[in-house]
Amino acid sequence: MSFLVLNQLKKAFGTALAVDNFELEVAKGELVTFLGPSGCGKSTTLRIIAGFETCDGGQIWMNQQEITHLPANRRKIGMVFQSYALFPNMTVAENIGFGLKLAKEKPPIIKKRVNEMLSLIRLEVLAQRYPHQISGGQAQRVALARALAPQPQLLLLDEPLSALDALIRRSLRAEIRQIQQQLGITTIFVTHDQEEALSLSDRIVVMNQGRIEQIGTPFEIYNYPTTNFVASFIGTLNMLPARVTNAAKGEINLGGHTVRVAGPLSQSDNTEITLALRPENLKIVEVEEEGLSATENFVHAKVKEVSLLGAVVRVRLSLAEVLLELDMFNSRHLTLPVPGAEVKLSFPIDSGLILTKPNTTIP
Ligand SMILES: Nc1ncnc2c1ncn2[C@@H]1O[C@H](COP(=O)(O)OP(=O)(O)OP(=O)(O)O)[C@@H](O)[C@H]1O
Ligand SMILES: [Mg+2]
Repeated sequence: MSFLVLNQLKKAFGTALAVDNFELEVAKGELVTFLGPSGCGKSTTLRIIAGFETCDGGQIWMNQQEITHLPANRRKIGMVFQSYALFPNMTVAENIGFGLKLAKEKPPIIKKRVNEMLSLIRLEVLAQRYPHQISGGQAQRVALARALAPQPQLLLLDEPLSALDALIRRSLRAEIRQIQQQLGITTIFVTHDQEEALSLSDRIVVMNQGRIEQIGTPFEIYNYPTTNFVASFIGTLNMLPARVTNAAKGEINLGGHTVRVAGPLSQSDNTEITLALRPENLKIVEVEEEGLSATENFVHAKVKEVSLLGAVVRVRLSLAEVLLELDMFNSRHLTLPVPGAEVKLSFPIDSGLILTKPNTTIP
C-alpha cells in the first residue's frame, strides 16, 4: 500500500463541489504537486489532508492507518502556508521550536533540534532575530524549518513561494527540493505556477474545478496531455483552426496548406478541428531538407513580430489567416527573423495534438 492514500475525497461548500472524488496514492519520499487555476480546490484538498477541514466523503490513509477523523495535531503532518505565518513575538529559534514545545519536549532536545533545523536552512546567524527583522525568503525558510522540526511524516506546502519575487522563488524552490530529498520526506506542494510544478515534482496532479484532470510525471504531463484542459493549461500552445481533408491518411488543411498529422484520424473528412502545436516544435528552415518530408511538414508563413524572452526568442507568424508562435533558442550568433519576411516552417508530423470539442479527452 502507498504511504498516503486519498480515496474518493469529497467536499462541498453549499451546493458547490470544491473537491470531487479526489483519488491519489503517494509513495514514501515522493514530491507530488497539485497544480491548477485559482479556486480549483487545491488548498481545500490540502486542508482536508492536514485535518483543518472535514470532508463530506472518502477516506485518508497514511502509513497503513486511516486518519480521516484524527484531529490535526495527531496526524504528524507539517504544513507551510502561502503567507508567512510566523509568530511575530517569537524569535526565529523560538518559532522553529514551537511545535516541539507544544509536544512538551525537554529544553535540551528542543535546542538541539532547533540548531539542526537552523543549519538545514543555513540561517544559524539569524536565530535571535524577530520575524520583522528578516526578509520574505528567509521567513519562508523559517516556516519550512518550523514545519519540519517535529519530524512530521508528511509535509504539506501551500503556495509557499507565491509572495516572493522571481529570483528568490527559483533559488528557494531548488532549496526546498534539495532539503526534501535529503530528508526523504513525503511532500505535497500546491502551486498554480506551471513552471514551478514542472521543475520541482516527481509527479503532478493537474486539477480543474475540484476534479483531477491528469496525474503524471512532468514529462508526461507536458508532452502527453490527456485532456484539452491539461494541454492548454501547461505551457504555451498554438491552437490552430484546421479541417480534416483525408482522415485515412491523416491529412488536414491548415491555412490553405495540406499538412499531415499522425493518422489515421478518428474524425470524418471535412470535420473542423483544432491542431495544437507547441511553439518549440516549430522551426524556421532554409530549404526543405531532402528525405525529411516523410517525418516533417513544411509550410510557408510570414513573420509578424519577434520578441526576445531571454533564453528563448518567440516569433509570431501568420500562415494565411492562421496566427502562430514559434520558439527558437537565443544565441549571440543568431540571425533574428525580420518582420514582414516570408519564411519556410517545419514541424514534425507527430508533434501536433488534434482537439475537437473543448473539455474532451484527447484520443
Ligand atoms: N470556507 C469556505 N467556504 C465556502 N467556500 C469555500 C471555502 N473555502 C473554499 N471555498 C471555495 O471552494 C473552492 C476551492 O477553493 P480553494 O481555496 O481550495 O482553491 P485553490 O485551488 O486553493 O485556489 P487558489 O489558487 O486561489 O488558492 C473555491 O470556489 C472557494 O471559493
Ligand atoms: Mg489556495
